[in-house]
Order: sequence, then C-alpha cells, then structure tokens
Amino acid sequence: MTVPLHKPLAPDATIGILGGGQLGRMLALAAHELGFRVHVYSDKKDSCAFDVVKNSTCAPFDNWARLADFLNHVDAVTYEFENIPAETAAFVAARKPLFPGVGVLATTQDRVTEKQFVNSLKIATAPFAPVKTSMELSAAFARIGMPAILKTARLGYDGKGQVKLEKGDDLASAWRSIGETPAVLEGFVKFEREISVVIARGIDGKTVAYEPIENVHRDHILHTSTVPAKIPPALAKEAIAIATKIAKALNYVGVLAVEMFVAKKGAKRELLVNEIAPRVHNSGHWTIDGASASQFEQHIRAIAGWPLNSVKRVGKSVTMTNLIGDEVLGWDKLAKEAGASVHLYGKGAAKAGRKMGHVTRVKL
Ligand SMILES: Nc1ncnc2c1ncn2[C@@H]1O[C@H](COP(=O)(O)OP(=O)(O)O)[C@@H](O)[C@H]1O
Ligand SMILES: [Mg+2]
Repeated sequence: MTVPLHKPLAPDATIGILGGGQLGRMLALAAHELGFRVHVYSDKKDSCAFDVVKNSTCAPFDNWARLADFLNHVDAVTYEFENIPAETAAFVAARKPLFPGVGVLATTQDRVTEKQFVNSLKIATAPFAPVKTSMELSAAFARIGMPAILKTARLGYDGKGQVKLEKGDDLASAWRSIGETPAVLEGFVKFEREISVVIARGIDGKTVAYEPIENVHRDHILHTSTVPAKIPPALAKEAIAIATKIAKALNYVGVLAVEMFVAKKGAKRELLVNEIAPRVHNSGHWTIDGASASQFEQHIRAIAGWPLNSVKRVGKSVTMTNLIGDEVLGWDKLAKEAGASVHLYGKGAAKAGRKMGHVTRVKL
C-alpha cells in the first residue's frame, strides 16, 4: 500500500529527505526557498545536510521506531540516494506519500533490472550479460567479448565496484576483485562523448527536461558538466525523448537523470543508455546558477504537487566543475574569481575522491 498526495503541499508543510549528503543539502536549501520546512533522516553522524535544517534524525534506516517518529513529523518524503533499503521504502510509502515511488527503486537499484527495463522500452544500452557465478562470467565473456567492464549489480557509484577487463586478463581475479557478488558484464563502449539528460516529471505527468549535458569523467568521477553539449540538435531531441519515455514508463515523480553514451555507428551516431539515477544528479548542479530554475527546485516542486518551472539556460554556455578531495583547498583562489559561483558542501576533511563542492561558470 502506498499513500498518495491528495493536494499540493502548502508552504510550511514539512518535506522529509532520506539521506544527508550534498544532494540532500541542496534539496533542503531549495525547499526552504519555497517556504517548506525540511526534516533530514540520515544514518551518518557527519551528514552535511544536517547543517542546513532545523530538524534531523540520525538513525539507521531499519530503526522502525525512529522512522515512524520521523514520518509523524513530515507531509511527504523523498530521497537523495537510490540505495534506500526496499523495506525502508515500503515502510515509508505505507505511511506518507513517497516520491519517487517504491517501484522506481526496485527497477533502478539493480543494474541488471535497470538495463532490462531500458531495453524493454526499445532503448539501446551497451551489450550486457548478468553474472552470478564465476562460471557465468566465462560464458558472459564468450558472448560480450573484450574489452569489457564488470560491475557489481548493486551499490556501485563513482566507479566503485567496477573493473575493466582487457584481452588476456584473469577472469577469476576480476571476479574476486568485485567481491564475488552478483554483477553485470558490459561491453566497453568506445564512446565519442558522454551526455546526460536531467528531466523533471510532475504529479500530473507533465515533464520538463533541461537540454542534454556533456560530461567528462576523471578516474570514474564526474569532473565537468557543460551545456550546451556538442551534439547535433536531432540527437539532443532524441536524448530528451529517451529520458521522457523512461520517466513516463516509471510513472516517475521528481527529477530523474539518464546517463548516455554517444557512440559512432558507421556514419551515424547512436545513443546508448548507461545508467538511470532516480534523483537529482551531479551533472545537473549547473542549473543552480545557469538555468531559470534549478534541478533542486524542480524536484521539490514535483514532489510537492506543484507545477514545474522553466528549464531555460541563462547565458551562452555553462560549465560546472567538481571540487574533488584536495581541490577544495583552492577555495580562496576561486573566491577571487569574478563571476565564478562557488558551492562548498561543508564536509570537513578533504578525503581523496570525496565530492567537496563545485564551481559554476556562466558565459553570458
Ligand atoms: N560500458 C562502458 N563502456 C565505456 N565506459 C564505461 C562503461 N561503463 C562505464 N563507463 C565509464 O565509467 C563511468 C562510471 O560508470 P557508471 O556505470 O556510470 O557507474 P557509476 O556512475 O555508478 O560509478 C561512466 O560514466 C563511463 O565514463
Ligand atoms: Mg554513472
């Protein structure tokens, strides 16, 4: 059983956010701009979203008493990361409106289910094979070929739980390196570029999509996101059509990101869906400073049952650069740069590979 939202939330209503990282923090800031109150629930003591809200709960996601208490204080619930345990999502959805819904999590928490779902919509992905045992891995290689990437089916992010395999590599050690856990083997795509589409879908089913974003990764972590992406207009349209189809098929409410590879296919280009993120996305951070309304505002509007806002870009181009680990130590230099919008997440120690902030530059 899931609880619906009967009417749009009025200002002063409280939005509950599961997860307390930088996405939760920026969602909370956007919710406050619209007059909502926010209650963050996270299992991590040092959650940077706690710093920007008055009410928070720090408890495990299976502490039912604490969750029930949290739910007594909120009017609708959303999440900032997709690895909410299924039982937690079901517990929440049975008591308060939860957006995006439980079914969305079930589809997107597992790379295999997600890719099968995408293919069922007649949308292309890289060739893939589910792998549950080391025997299956050999069979999968025979089918997919080299080079390939072996990824854990669940809980991977920023390239974690992934290993690239070249001809001659030892399959048994690759299987061990990802923890001998259910996985997917994907053909390696020699892509021309990577793009993403950030789309919002309202409770009424209406969608608005930002233009496709061009993404560059470094060490498997997003480095820069730029709009406009250097792709022909017809391909941009196709990318948005793909994201729209996915959002609709998921009966989605909120902001969704679809990561895609642009690959050459003979003289033509094709789009292959890499990943779906059922939440606001790092590649959409540029929208805070570079678009009429940010992805965070759109998400809050959607889950509150409000109409969506404009997705129009401000200026000729916009680039968002992540500040990873030590890069944040250059904050003083960035602070002096005219027109650079610096966003720091208040995470304390700059650990290697940790997303500490981002800077957005809008070219007018
Ligand atoms: N099949 C593939 N072919 C080529 N590059 C890939 C492939 N899968 C992943 N990558 C690269 O690794 C990055 C991270 O992989 P992804 O599947 O998005 O996992 P996550 O973002 O969850 O860590 C991608 O953005 C892309 O740059
Ligand atoms: Mg990804």
